[in-house]
Amino acid sequence: MKNNGTAPIRFFNGNHIPVELHKVRIVQKLHLKPIDERLAAIDEGGYNTFLLNTKDIFLDMLTDSGTNAMSDNQVSSMLHADDAYSGSQSYYRMEAALKEVFGMEYILPVHQGRAAENVISKVFIKEGDIIPMNYHFTTTKAHMEINGGKVLEIYRDEAIKIKSNHPFKGNIDIDKLNDVISGYGADKVAFIRLEASTNLIGGQPFSMANLRDVRKIADRHGLMVVLDASLIGENAWFIKQREEEFKNTHIKDILLEMCDLSDLVYFSSRKVTSTRGGGICTNNKDIYMKLRDLIPLYEGFLTYGGMSVREIEAMAVGLYETTDDTIISQSPAFIEYAVGELEKEGIPVVTPAGALGCHVDAMGFLPHVRQEEYPAGALASALFIVSGCRGMERGTISSERDETGKDILADMELLRLAFPRRVFTLSQTMFLLDRIKWLYANRDLVGGLKFVEEPPVLRFFMGRLAPVSDWPVKLAEKFRADFGDSL
Ligand code: F0G
Repeated sequence: MKNNGTAPIRFFNGNHIPVELHKVRIVQKLHLKPIDERLAAIDEGGYNTFLLNTKDIFLDMLTDSGTNAMSDNQVSSMLHADDAYSGSQSYYRMEAALKEVFGMEYILPVHQGRAAENVISKVFIKEGDIIPMNYHFTTTKAHMEINGGKVLEIYRDEAIKIKSNHPFKGNIDIDKLNDVISGYGADKVAFIRLEASTNLIGGQPFSMANLRDVRKIADRHGLMVVLDASLIGENAWFIKQREEEFKNTHIKDILLEMCDLSDLVYFSSRKVTSTRGGGICTNNKDIYMKLRDLIPLYEGFLTYGGMSVREIEAMAVGLYETTDDTIISQSPAFIEYAVGELEKEGIPVVTPAGALGCHVDAMGFLPHVRQEEYPAGALASALFIVSGCRGMERGTISSERDETGKDILADMELLRLAFPRRVFTLSQTMFLLDRIKWLYANRDLVGGLKFVEEPPVLRFFMGRLAPVSDWPVKLAEKFRADFGDSL
């Protein structure tokens, strides 16, 4: 296969390992604290990994959002940023990059992805509308619901199966989409949303064939296709790897086709380009004009949208870098390695390996913890205690309650271990895997959690929990018995 990405490197002994196709020139010291301090830290953080302080964390795998490593070219671009409230040269460089990489004519800058979701939802969703999509993202759903919309997830059953070899679990089910549109009536559909490398089901991509089918349906009913492009680079990478038609297509052309099939593309630049910020783009002037005036109201003037000019410069360079196989393949290569190693030990993980992170199936890992006691949250706390590695709960805690106050149980209980691009090395990854294996051998010691403080919206961010028994103490005791005073 002709490409310079990580995946095709072969080894003499057949053992496939990811190879870092970059060198490390700026480093940040990490702290691996003793287990007693880690236990105290998670207790203080209300058993919610969002509430930990990085001074207590060894490998921060909470997210890839705003934590990918920047390139030398990105950092150096920040030095020639043009400070101006309006008309900044930095903005025009970013606009040119978006035109070239996404093929989009009209650009609206925003301070991050959810800011795009805010204005898009305000403009295009009215009370009682439905929004069919492959799968929701937390902030997306919250913005849509606040504006009176109802999210409908139209996925194939395969999408939420933990173990699968389906290459495109992020696909929309086309038959169901047709049924939903005829059932509700096209006038009730605000738009169809597709999320690249579908985050909450394990970073799973959709295929170009699926996007083309969605486009046809949208055209038939006069509906808009909205693409959440926050993880578009990785989705394009998987299309190249897994969709026969594209195996010799340049990533640049895959990106262009994905955007061309969409009426409106928005993204979190914290993910796409390793910087901060975000954007909304379209080739349709009417769509642009409907959104335009909300940007100065919520974000900032049209040439900065709440971002600093330094971030805008780095974003422009980062956009071009999204077309580079050696950059966008890094995170998937490490995830594939981690998933493969855990599978070898029989540890339940989402397969096939996707984008963004390695997703451990907490219900399979902790079958004795009821879903009402939040197995994914418990597993995130337990892993932090035994390793200092911070992952993120993506399960029922990240969901919400129904009108009667009962938890809406999530389709999957996942512990997400994000692999921000080019941040962690192979030996760090091996340390993480070692500790997960130990935890799996001692999984009976891990118990559940309960809420002690619960915000009504997006409770996973600030909510505080407590263990249902003294299991964290027992787990730490066993760790000490097995590892002595080793970190
Ligand atoms: N859409 C998707 C698919 C995302 O993954 C995110 C953020 C957003 C929108 C919102 O963007 O954070 O810039 O406001 N995902 C982060 C994560 C938070 O950790 O997965 P934002």
